[in-house]
Amino acid sequence: MRVGIIGAGRIGTIHADNLRRHPKVSGIVVTDIESALSHRIAAMCDAETTAGPDELLESVDAVVICTPGDTHVELIELAVGHGVPALCEKPLATNLADADRAVLAVSQSDVPVQVGFNRRFDQGYRTARRLVADGSLGTLTFIVGQHRDYEMSSEEYIAGSGGAFRDQLIHDFDILRFVTGRDVVRVHAAGATKAFEWFDEFDDYAQTTATLWLDDGTLAVLCGSRQNPVGYDVRMEIFGTKDSIAVGLDARTPLRSVEPGVPGPVDPYTEWVPRFGATYAREMDAFLSMVSDGGPNECTVHDGRAALMIAEACTIAAREGRIVTLEELL
Ligand SMILES: NC(=O)c1ccc[n+]([C@@H]2O[C@H](COP(=O)([O-])OP(=O)(O)OC[C@H]3O[C@@H](n4cnc5c(N)ncnc54)[C@H](O)[C@@H]3O)[C@@H](O)[C@H]2O)c1
Repeated sequence: MRVGIIGAGRIGTIHADNLRRHPKVSGIVVTDIESALSHRIAAMCDAETTAGPDELLESVDAVVICTPGDTHVELIELAVGHGVPALCEKPLATNLADADRAVLAVSQSDVPVQVGFNRRFDQGYRTARRLVADGSLGTLTFIVGQHRDYEMSSEEYIAGSGGAFRDQLIHDFDILRFVTGRDVVRVHAAGATKAFEWFDEFDDYAQTTATLWLDDGTLAVLCGSRQNPVGYDVRMEIFGTKDSIAVGLDARTPLRSVEPGVPGPVDPYTEWVPRFGATYAREMDAFLSMVSDGGPNECTVHDGRAALMIAEACTIAAREGRIVTLEELL
């Protein structure tokens, strides 16, 4: 199978490396508006380059869209127009109108598009999903999530990110839906800029919380932080009437206990690649199986739209200081 990559930046490089190793892939074609970047990936994985997406889409069986979020809808429409199945990085879009365009384009065609919420391929989250579904936890009562980045992002990155709920916690919104199999019906959210007041300039937050009500009455609280001195800390604690479990809690979890005799973290996770690197390979494998063998789509454009809708609701809730129902955004 020949696979294209549009966007040869950070995530494009990770996907290229996984495509290079995949037995189903016979050729890779790359394009980026910065031709030096496509040539860098081409050299890394013996790939061809093209001047632009149109030319690329004429010569591939599948494509991976790795450009910034505000370009995704246009490239999805282009891929679908060429009849080329796509794995599109998160977010599906940066606003709901664009997300609707992407959903319409996909639903009017028979070309599958998978959205790149890679945590769905993490073993811990998959085990949690199974235990919730098979009743091992009893009745699900409460979920607490943490998402703390290690090093502070640059001002340039924050300026173009779309805000903490759309850029950072969107992963947590998706994985909450995946683990529970439920939808969010209303939210409350708050944000702060303590110790990083420069976030005010971008109308954004360095620390966030989101309280989410699921459609079965389960309450979830998700916390985000743009900087954690100990490391990259992504966890989910899931409580039921029969058991309590945690995803992301191990010897590398970057959280230092002050209880006597409890050892501190060993080689704590710093960036997302050590924590979630294996998920990108599994995600690619699922995508290529979907394209070549008609396997299931593990993360549809409807999932991508649902996560964005929660992020939009949280952004409004934090700004206006009120509970926002998802129905308001329909
Ligand atoms: N799933 C994950 O864990 C994960 C991790 C990182 C980034 N992402 C997502 O991947 C996307 C890209 O992020 P990144 O960190 O790799 O960004 P990046 O800036 O490193 O790379 C993006 C690349 O796209 C190129 N580009 C922009 N517009 C283009 C166009 N129209 N045609 C061709 N090339 C174009 C840019 O020149 C750049 O090289 C974002 O949507 C981001 O949210 C997802």
